[in-house]
Amino acid sequence: MPNKKIRLGILGGGGDSLIGVLHRIASSMHDNYEIVGGVFNPEHEESLKFARHLGLDESRVYKDYETFINEEIKLDSEKRIEVVSVLTPNFLHFPMAKMLLENNFHVICEKPLTTTYAEAKELFKIKESKDLVFAVTYTYTGYPMVRQMTKMVANGEIGKVHKVDAQYLQGWLNPVVHDKEKRSSTWRLNPKVSGISCCVGDIGTHAFNMVELVAGSNVKKILSHLNNLYDDNPMDVDANILIQLENGANGTIRSSQIATGEENNLRISIYGDKGGLKWEQENPNYLYHLSDNEPMRVLKTAHPYNYDISNISTKIPPGHPEGIFDSMGNIYNGVAKAIKKQKFDSVEFPSIDEGVRGMDFIEKAVKSHQSGNIWMNLD
Ligand SMILES: NC(=O)c1ccc[n+]([C@@H]2O[C@H](COP(=O)([O-])OP(=O)(O)OC[C@H]3O[C@@H](n4cnc5c(N)ncnc54)[C@H](O)[C@@H]3O)[C@@H](O)[C@H]2O)c1
Repeated sequence: MPNKKIRLGILGGGGDSLIGVLHRIASSMHDNYEIVGGVFNPEHEESLKFARHLGLDESRVYKDYETFINEEIKLDSEKRIEVVSVLTPNFLHFPMAKMLLENNFHVICEKPLTTTYAEAKELFKIKESKDLVFAVTYTYTGYPMVRQMTKMVANGEIGKVHKVDAQYLQGWLNPVVHDKEKRSSTWRLNPKVSGISCCVGDIGTHAFNMVELVAGSNVKKILSHLNNLYDDNPMDVDANILIQLENGANGTIRSSQIATGEENNLRISIYGDKGGLKWEQENPNYLYHLSDNEPMRVLKTAHPYNYDISNISTKIPPGHPEGIFDSMGNIYNGVAKAIKKQKFDSVEFPSIDEGVRGMDFIEKAVKSHQSGNIWMNLD
């Protein structure tokens, strides 16, 4: 049987965007999808220009997302776009994803899922009433060694988990935030576009999701201290958060966008009574396994000693570095399996549940700080 590709639409992610290229390449990696159309830019002419660059049929490139949905649903089911990636600035995720779900499209949505927890819960409710797939692209969960780490913890290889430390340090806002004009020009520091938090919403949420995934336990409560640096800056640019997990472990989530000179320094370390595991995003093909009595072991991708789910997440033999494109590619591959109703492992893509938990985390982190740094329970 020839492979019938899933028809993919894209909202946002134009030639001027950061994340668009990652999704386009990821979607092509496992030969599951065909990009058919979308809205790549609020300016229709720009959208069309980009569609021509991609070699798309211009009749499937619409002036806005409402027209996209209203026109696509008129098409025969064999022609209609089946799944849509939402890659716009945050405030558009909710209205776009809501209308897509209501009109029976599968959705792949960038994080943070929405700009408020209430919106996230509303989306969840609609999704619950539909037989549709909804993924939230916490990109880093697709790395083979993150999947390996998750399975090692779940299988008791480090014993009972008692400590988790996650950090996501970036420095790109440092040259922006100290300049009054510049700090009012980025959408990430504009609450109307970004939501109530910058640093926690943009990158703390990746670290939070990674903690819950790898520890195999939800975070029960958090206490946060945020820093906006300037009184006229409405959004946090640095966050230190204490966490307690349902499994009894304690830990920290430290995220910053003013860690001068840092790039995408996401790390997760997890310690149990029999050992520890450490992984870092900027060196993603290695996983470090620590113990009391033996020298540190370094596990690498694509070896038979890894769990199957780690090895099916690599495409080439060991020693050929794979990176963030491959990680996102693995997420798209998991989503394709779900759309085709094939068997998949729950770690193969983050679902809407994880997007909703992320929004609970963001809101409680801000509330904890604003209430004088108090413990807040997550739902
Ligand atoms: N998963 C990750 O690791 C990761 C990394 C970066 C960004 N993101 C998320 O991806 C989203 C986009 O971030 P970005 O950095 O690419 O933003 P960006 O500002 O670089 O790009 C946004 C894109 O959306 C388009 N756009 C804006 N309004 C639109 C509209 N009304 N209709 C159609 N297109 C529209 C813009 O033209 C642009 O192409 C954000 O939610 C962000 O949090 C996720």
